[in-house]
Amino acid sequence: MLKLIPVVPIFLHLLSQIDCLDNGLALTPPMGWMHWERFRCITDCATYPTDCISERLFRDMADKMASDGFLDAGYEYVIVDDCWLAMERDSEGRLQPDPGRFPSGIKALADYVHAKGLKFGIYEDYGTKTCGGYPGSIDHLALDAQTFADWGVDYLKLDGCYADLDGMEDGYAEMEAYLNQTRRPIVFSCSFPAYKGLNANYSAAVEHCNLWRNYGDIQDSWDSVAKITDWFSLNQVALLPYAGPGHWNDPDMLIIGNYGLSYDQSVAQMAIWSVMAAPLIMSVDLRTIKPEFRDILLNKDAIRINQDVLGNPGVVKHEKDSIRLWVKELVDDSYAIGIASYRVDGKPYQLEIVLKDLGLDNEKGFLIKNVFDDVDPISVSVSEPIKVLVNPTGGVLWELTPLAKKKVK
Ligand code: GLA
Repeated sequence: MLKLIPVVPIFLHLLSQIDCLDNGLALTPPMGWMHWERFRCITDCATYPTDCISERLFRDMADKMASDGFLDAGYEYVIVDDCWLAMERDSEGRLQPDPGRFPSGIKALADYVHAKGLKFGIYEDYGTKTCGGYPGSIDHLALDAQTFADWGVDYLKLDGCYADLDGMEDGYAEMEAYLNQTRRPIVFSCSFPAYKGLNANYSAAVEHCNLWRNYGDIQDSWDSVAKITDWFSLNQVALLPYAGPGHWNDPDMLIIGNYGLSYDQSVAQMAIWSVMAAPLIMSVDLRTIKPEFRDILLNKDAIRINQDVLGNPGVVKHEKDSIRLWVKELVDDSYAIGIASYRVDGKPYQLEIVLKDLGLDNEKGFLIKNVFDDVDPISVSVSEPIKVLVNPTGGVLWELTPLAKKKVK
């Protein structure tokens, strides 16, 4: 028998009391590419000409996103993270990029990205300096918002290093106001919850931000994926009420295709991020990614589950023997189930699932499609036990379509 974790009743009533950032953006979790986890703060272009943080890197990635199916699959934002800036503002106080690495300027880079049909994102920091030590935005918020709009920025990640924790929510609200004043639609990714922890004012995040980092940085390892997902699972009662269309919890980038995750671990990350309704922001070298990892990132079913219009974040409903299972309610009475194994005993674990024990209800049952396995879908009733094998540090993702229309009460 599955041990069912008591789950918060449905939280939507709570959200109806909170104002939401109403810029019409990020109605489904944002999808894109960001340089940080894979390319870090590499500024030595002499030694690392293809990997350094330079206009060449972002042009290369934009080319690949457009030519290799990522844009078609929904990945639309090309986001420059830290270390793009010159150490000084210009004579009028405006931010400027490092002239050696971005000789054409940011506007030209944004134009290049836009010409590919993609959108352009950039990083700054609310404090005195970025985490990498470059000029921060404090004292220049209005000017920086206008500069970003003038450059054609569509997405701003505003980090929270070197900032006063008190009043951070107000500072981010101020930045949101300046962004709105530019009249340019700009997705606003906030970081104050990651710095303030569960003490952060999450209602303020919903009110002023389209997404927000909640927790520490992802690193290139399964341990890091496990640590992040443990934290989100442990704190789901506190976190899930705030996620929905236009405003998302962000467990950080997808690291699929890099050095640290096996194939199974990559499937697990994609399954978990999809079912959590997490932003799907890749950080990988798209020029050299191996096809099996590219296929995971491009999996249409996983992306459809993640991008479901209802925007329900998955709820952890079962956790036992280092196996965790999420249920996500989808449109039209469909569901997704994501399962991850954190076991390291070197052999698959057989889990037995009864759908009605997980709260799924349909008189005729469901058609289950196994998203990452090329097997025929199966029909199951809600009361029959279903056996599923989960590889160690691997994942399973199912899409369940109802076999009968639910009776209208
Ligand atoms: C922080 C953020 C990361 C990245 C770095 C850049 O650590 O959480 O995602 O932006 O700063 O310095």
